[in-house]
Amino acid sequence: MNAPGGGARTSVLVAAAGAPWEAPALDRLGRAAPDIVLTKRCVDLTDLLATASAGLASVALVSPTLPGLDADSVAQLARSGVAVVVVAAPEELQDGDTERLRRLGVLHLLASTELDSLVATVGSAGTDAAPAPPAVPAVAAPAPGETTEAEPGEGRLVTVWGPTGAPGRTTVAVGLATELAAAGHEVLLVDVDGYGGAVAQHLGVLDEVSGVLAAARAANTGRLDRQRLAACARQVDDRLRVLTGLPRPDRWREVRPAAFEDLLDETVRLAPYAVLDVGFCLEADPADPFGSSAPQRNEMTLASLRRADEIVVVGAADPVGLARLARGLVELLDVVPGVRPRVVVNRTRPSLGWSDREIRGMVEGFVTPLDVHFLPDDRAAADRALMAGRSLAESGESALRTAMTALARGVLGEPAVPVRRRRLLRRRRAGRDR
Ligand SMILES: Nc1ncnc2c1ncn2[C@@H]1O[C@H](COP(=O)(O)OP(=O)(O)OP(=O)(O)O)[C@@H](O)[C@H]1O
Ligand SMILES: [Mg+2]
Repeated sequence: MNAPGGGARTSVLVAAAGAPWEAPALDRLGRAAPDIVLTKRCVDLTDLLATASAGLASVALVSPTLPGLDADSVAQLARSGVAVVVVAAPEELQDGDTERLRRLGVLHLLASTELDSLVATVGSAGTDAAPAPPAVPAVAAPAPGETTEAEPGEGRLVTVWGPTGAPGRTTVAVGLATELAAAGHEVLLVDVDGYGGAVAQHLGVLDEVSGVLAAARAANTGRLDRQRLAACARQVDDRLRVLTGLPRPDRWREVRPAAFEDLLDETVRLAPYAVLDVGFCLEADPADPFGSSAPQRNEMTLASLRRADEIVVVGAADPVGLARLARGLVELLDVVPGVRPRVVVNRTRPSLGWSDREIRGMVEGFVTPLDVHFLPDDRAAADRALMAGRSLAESGESALRTAMTALARGVLGEPAVPVRRRRLLRRRRAGRDR
C-alpha cells in the first residue's frame, strides 16, 4: 500500500490489553497519517489473530500482558505478514523479560517511556514484516569416512521412523541411542511418537511427568532454553538422557507446532547426537483455511523428519512388513524429497527365505539408501531387555546387540567392523591360507 506521497503505508493493529500507553500511542500514530494507518484496536488476542489473518495489517502493537500471547500466536502473526512490536512499561522489561519475549519470536521492543520513537519503530517493523519462509529440509548424509561428531551447539538429529505395524522403531531408536552413548557420545533420546510413548518403558524409566510435554509447555511461554530442556530430560546413563513421551495418546494436542520447533532447536543445542522416536503416520491434516496454529497429530513426526540430519527407516522383514516398507519409502520421499535414508530391515530370519541381496535390491528399487542394515529376529534378547527395562547393551551379548552396534557405527560414519578387528580377521585368514 502506498501513501499519497509515494512512500509505503504501514497498517497497524493495536492490542494493548488496557495498558496506559495506548492513548498516547494512538495519538502519535494518528499524527503520522497517511504513512501510518490505524486499522483496528483489537479487544483480545483472538480478535488480533483473526484481523491479521485477513491480511489487513503489517504491524501489531501489543502489550506483553495480552492474555494468551505465546510463541504460537507470534508465529501465526508472522505467517500472516504481521510483525509484533511489544510496548511495555520499563518495569516489564527487566529480569529476563526481554529474553523471554525474544524467545517468543518478538523482534521489536519499545519502552512506554520512549513513545517518541514509536513511529520510527513501527516503520522499520513494517519493512521487516514478511511471512516466515518455509523450513528447508536439512537432510545431508556424511561422506564415507567423514567425522560426524557435531560442533558444540549444533548436534546431529537422527530421526527413526517406520511404517505402521510395529516394525521396531522404538527398539531401534533405544538401541541406537544406547550404542552411540556406549561409543562415547553424549546423546539425547526423545520420544515424540504422537500415538503414545514407549521409550520410558523400554528403558525402565518411571517418569511421572512427560519430558516432551514439560518442554513443550516451557516453549509455549518462551521459557525453553538448553538448561530448561536438560531439566525436563532424565539422565539414564553417564552419556544418555531421555525426554520421555506422551503418557496418553490423546495428549498430542498439548504440543503446538511452534513449541515443537523450539524443542527441536534446543535439542540440537543440548547434545551432539539426538535420536528421535517418531510415530508411523505421515498424513498431514488438511490445511486450515484460517491459518491457525492448532496442533496437528502428525506434526511432530513430519517436523522431525524435515529437520533430520539423518533418517533411519525401520521395516519388518516379513512379506507384509516389506510391502509396507516399500510404500513407506515412497511416502517418505513426498515428505522429504530426495532424502537418502538409512534403511533397517528388522527381524530377519532364515525361515523367510530371502537373501540380504534380494532385500537390498528391493529397497534400492524405491530409494537410494545410505545403507541397508539387517537386524536378526532375536526374541530372546528383545524380551530380556524389555522385561528388565534395560537396553540391549546392558542385557548381555546377543546377535541383536551386535547388529545394533554395527548400525550405530554406520550412523557414526565408521566402518561396519572396527579396523582392529578387521586386521585380526585378516591375520587369521592369512594364517589359515599358509
Ligand atoms: N529384532 C527383533 N527381534 C525380536 N523382537 C523384536 C525385534 N525388534 C523388535 N522386536 C519386538 O517387537 C515388538 C515391537 O517393537 P517396537 O515397540 O520397537 O515397535 P514400534 O515400531 O516402535 O511399535 P509401535 O507402533 O507400537 O510404536 C516389541 O515386542 C519388540 O521387543
Ligand atoms: Mg514405538
